[in-house]
Amino acid sequence: MSDVFPKWTNKLPVILILCLGLVGSGVAAGIYYYFTPKYTRVGYQPVQPIAFSHAIHAGQLGLDCRYCHSDVDEAAHANVPANSTCVRCHKTGGILANDPKLALVRESEKTGQSIPWVRIHQVPDYVYFNHAVHVNRGISCVKCHGRIDQM
Ligand code: HEC
Ligand code: HEC
Ligand code: HEC
Repeated sequence: MSDVFPKWTNKLPVILILCLGLVGSGVAAGIYYYFTPKYTRVGYQPVQPIAFSHAIHAGQLGLDCRYCHSDVDEAAHANVPANSTCVRCHKTGGILANDPKLALVRESEKTGQSIPWVRIHQVPDYVYFNHAVHVNRGISCVKCHGRIDQM
């Protein structure tokens, strides 16, 4: 009789509880992480290292989104522009070339370190979102991102 269940099964309830506990706290952490304002609140606007304005660049100047986000139609991930894109106008082009608002652009050109832009959009790692696929089907940026040129 006593050999029907091996001895370790006595501990089974304890093991089960431990496992459930681990899974449970993982789920809780996930919920906490993805439901923070960064993920749920539309209009989340972090403080950026440079007060960059889409309204000026895309709106008033009428620059094409792809002038800066050059990878959108080629790569799975859209890119935030390289510093060299800013330098083209803000140093070489002489626009606000000595303005303190652009100090970081000049510094970053000297050191070769990229500007630490804070990412706004981020799908959880388990969601595979491919930008190029969407953009190349002719879905416009505005459809998904709203009127960035007015923000
Ligand atoms: C095609 C040229 C061009 C490029 C490329 C460009 N800018 Fe500008 N930027 C301008 C012009 C023109 C203005 C308006 C100048 C003025 O107000 O006299 C401006 C204004 C600015 C301002 C001042 C905004 C304000 O509120 O006064 C900042 C900051 C700025 N740009 C950052 C950037 C950054 C960062 C990049 C790179 C991601 C960049 N710009 C790329 C042309 C450009
Ligand atoms: C002069 C360069 C420039 C142009 C033109 C430009 N952007 Fe940007 N964009 C930036 C920079 C710099 C950032 C990072 C700072 C920020 O989020 O404000 C950014 C950030 C973004 C983000 C948020 C990225 C994130 O962090 O998740 C989106 C979405 C975006 N741009 C879409 C667009 C669209 C759509 C257009 C065209 C209507 C456009 N951009 C035109 C420079 C540019
Ligand atoms: C089908 C909807 C859709 C379309 C169309 C679209 N985007 Fe996006 N975009 C997204 C999503 C979703 C994310 C977040 C993806 C991620 O985190 O991997 C994103 C992220 C971005 C980012 C941030 C990338 C980063 O690494 O921080 C930029 C910049 C951007 N898009 C620019 C553009 C531009 C410019 C266009 C038009 C040429 C465009 N998008 C068209 C849905 C779209």
